[in-house]
Parts: sequence; C-alpha cells; structure tokens
Amino acid sequence: MSDQIARGSAWTARADVLLAAAGERGVLCDIYDEEAADIYHDLMQGGTSQAREFTTRIPAGSGPILELAAGSGRLTFPLLALGRKVTALELSPAMLAILRRRLDDAPARLRDLCTLVQGDMSAFTLDRRFDVVVLDQSITLLDGADRPGLYACVREHLEPGGRLLLTMADSDAAKAKSVERFQEVSGMSGRPYVLHERLSAADEVRELTICPADETADPFVVCTTRIRLLQVDLIARELEQAGFEVIARTPLAFAGARHNDVFLLEAARPS
Ligand SMILES: C[S@@+](CC[C@H](N)C(=O)[O-])C[C@H]1O[C@@H](n2cnc3c(N)ncnc32)[C@H](O)[C@@H]1O
Repeated sequence: MSDQIARGSAWTARADVLLAAAGERGVLCDIYDEEAADIYHDLMQGGTSQAREFTTRIPAGSGPILELAAGSGRLTFPLLALGRKVTALELSPAMLAILRRRLDDAPARLRDLCTLVQGDMSAFTLDRRFDVVVLDQSITLLDGADRPGLYACVREHLEPGGRLLLTMADSDAAKAKSVERFQEVSGMSGRPYVLHERLSAADEVRELTICPADETADPFVVCTTRIRLLQVDLIARELEQAGFEVIARTPLAFAGARHNDVFLLEAARPS
C-alpha cells in the first residue's frame, strides 16, 4: 500500500513536515474541502484573459451552457455575462457554497440565469441538453479510469453539433524532470501563503501543498491537490475515440505572453 493511500488522499510528504511542526494547530485537507475552499478562492480569483478565450469561442446565438467543475465561479460569471443560461456543476459542496454566496451578491439578472448542481463530472445525469459544455483546467484531476465517464456524460448532454471547450496544460511525463520548488504567493485578500510544488515524472503528477506563510497561524491549514501530467494529444485521441470531432487545439496567450503549454481544445458532437 502506498504512503498516499495509507495516509489519506490529501497526504503529501511536504504536508507531513508542516504538520509535524504545527502540532495540534495543524489541519490537513484537500484544497477543495470545507476547511480550504476559501483559500482556493482567495488564491485563484482573476483569470479574465483565460475567461475571454472561452467566451469568444461560444458561437453567437447558441443556447444554454454547461460548465463542469465550476469551482467558486471564476469562469461562471464571465459566462453569465454573455446572457446565456449557465448550469454550473461542481463536486465539492464547499466550493459550491462559495459560488452560491457570490451569486447571492450578484445582480438578479445574472443570478436568475444560473443553476447550480452538485455532481461528479465523470458521472452525472441532468434532464436537459446544452449547446456548449466548458471545462477549465480540471480534466487533469481525473484519472484514466474516470475520463471515459466524462466523455460519455458530455456527449449525452450536448445537442447534436454542440461544442465541448476545454483547457489543459500539455505535459509530457516522459520528458518531465522531477523538481521541487517553493514559492511565496499572495491571495486576493493580501494573505500570504507558501506553495510547495513537487513534480514527479515517475508518478506522472504535479503535487501542490499550500500553507499559511505565518507559521504561528491557528489553525494552520495545510491543503493539497494533485494534478495529472497529461498530453493534449492523448486527450484529443480519447475524445475522437469517444465519438467527438476535435476541431481545434489552440495554445493560449495570457496577458500578452504566449504560454505554449496551455491549450484550448474544441470538440464537436457530430450532428
Ligand atoms: C482547478 S479547480 C477549477 C475551478 C474552476 N473551473 C476555475 O477555473 O476556477 C477544480 C475544480 O474541480 C472540482 N472537481 C474535482 N473533481 C471533480 C469532479 N469529479 N466533478 C466535478 N468537479 C470536480 C474541484 O472541487 C474544483 O472546484
């Protein structure tokens, strides 16, 4: 049994070190769990240029949009601003609660367009179909056993001719170098955090461990997530095998800079 399975899915070697130092103040959780969802939201707001990559590709005159793994709504609000009905599906009740809170504070014209659903993007059934399904940066949270479920669910919920738009980092585990690095990062609130990243080529995973920069924080919340190293080619192939037509794969430009490793894939469900 691996250390990770034996100690729970949120365990990382870095978390062990941090929790040993924090003693009784230490709390370990997945970054999308209740104790940490506010930290995720604090760190991950913004991203308007990425949102534009989605909104400019939504065909004029198309109908309702399904957003998978919506998180705290970073992309949901720009989608709602298009004036389309958006169904935002998210697995974590804590992330969904943040999105619900944000919608409560939003103008009624946006709130009324949005439906929230708690569900698993690799196994869901909704009683309606959509013209567009979007999935931002989260396919890398699914393993090879769960991705076929995602493709089947998306196919089932797209109108014939409808589009799937997804973004993902293009990572070739075979060429990746195992590295470890620390970075001090600030949330939108101004709170500083320390982010530890371990890229393991052998495990084909990027493991993130985030903690407060203030070592005396009580509780001292240590949160983690694992991102699979996946190649865009693999996902494009899987989509074709699942009956989609991959119509574009575009490297994305953020804030004027070209990030060749993040791609937007567009796939159509044949009519
Ligand atoms: C990297 S965040 C992205 C959130 C949002 N799309 C954004 O861009 O801010 C990943 C989100 O996927 C959610 N998630 C993870 N596994 C999921 C699953 N199987 N089904 C639905 N949501 C999932 C997490 O709870 C988290 O909110």
